[in-house]
Amino acid sequence: LFEHILEGVPDSIFAMMEAFAADTNDKKVNLSPGIYRDDNAKTWVLPSVQKAREILVADQNLNHDISPQMGNPDLVSVARQITFKDTLSSRIITSMQTISGTGANHFIARLLSDTLQPKTVWLSNPTWENHPKIWTHVNSAIEQHLYPYYDYRTSTLDIEGMISTLKERASRGDVIILQVCAHNPTGLDPSMEDWETIAEVCEEKGIFPVLDSAYQGFATGDADNDAWAIRHFAARSRGTMEFAVTQSFSKNFGLYGERVGVLHIVTRTRGSAAKAESALKTLSRAEITSAPAFGAKVVATILQDQVLREQWQEDLKTMSGRLRHMRKRLYDELIKRNTPGNWAHLLTDIGMFSYMRLSEDQLAILRNTFHVYLLPSSRLSWTGLTSRNVEYVAESIHKVVTL
Ligand code: LMR
Repeated sequence: LFEHILEGVPDSIFAMMEAFAADTNDKKVNLSPGIYRDDNAKTWVLPSVQKAREILVADQNLNHDISPQMGNPDLVSVARQITFKDTLSSRIITSMQTISGTGANHFIARLLSDTLQPKTVWLSNPTWENHPKIWTHVNSAIEQHLYPYYDYRTSTLDIEGMISTLKERASRGDVIILQVCAHNPTGLDPSMEDWETIAEVCEEKGIFPVLDSAYQGFATGDADNDAWAIRHFAARSRGTMEFAVTQSFSKNFGLYGERVGVLHIVTRTRGSAAKAESALKTLSRAEITSAPAFGAKVVATILQDQVLREQWQEDLKTMSGRLRHMRKRLYDELIKRNTPGNWAHLLTDIGMFSYMRLSEDQLAILRNTFHVYLLPSSRLSWTGLTSRNVEYVAESIHKVVTL
């Protein structure tokens, strides 16, 4: 029966995690997944999450009832606040809890494929490995085009290339996926001025923006600063722009396995909002019935409590601060060794990732000889670098580029 199944597309992030787990060398270093580790290379339970968990477990009334169709109302409410803040009261927004960012991206792709029926979805070159997979899975007839984003020669953002490509080639009714901050995989973000230009082009050309917010708090260490682009889209043109936000709580709460996310759809009229809500309920019922409960309660407990919220803000600073510190440490170690290459961008890249511009052969030697794992795209995740392994990683990179 299953003999004629077409083989699936392997996922490099999961493939690398498996290869790393199977590697028995005790020098091994995992710089591949976007999953935060502490300075002992251990998965970190945020102190705010630890406390919320204790509160929830101690609650005699904690039960395992199913969430309403739109999700846990407390989670959805705090998710709206941290995303839209001052712009919340002036816009009509439909929000539904989803299975993390992947679920939010999937639901909006499904909904747009059915309603807007875009000819093309525009993705950054490069983008998160799962974006193209989600759209192919939803509707492979929708063309996927890449807009210039990363300049491979200079390791800088190609904003001119991006804008001119969209102006010349995008059509009314196309969809664009824009990562709000701490771009995965390049670590390069548009400036505020760039965002104004991007929003202007989307509006002029009639392109529907999906703002993917998977790293709020990881760019600057401040969740408010990191949502600036979303609030700009919400407020521009006297609040008339329609768009969606796909929000993940995996990274900023360290709740990777709990799969907590929210999809927000910002519409012009109440009629459209009601239709979006009804379509989302139908879709959700058929696919997941309703989103998981426990992680949603953790996030809601933290954001509804002043003390826990402050602790969470500290936790964000701890995580983003550690990554910034490791950037400087690796940079210093490479400079100390006079390692050939332009490493200045390591200090200015933002968030969890940097593009290292190492060749496939160099990456294979890093992996096979030195047991240092990056993605085949040359993406380095700063999360696996620690004060104990940074010199070894620098030495390994040095050896590989001077072979
Ligand atoms: C990553 O890019 O490594 C993370 O976003 C994990 C994932 O789900 O792909």
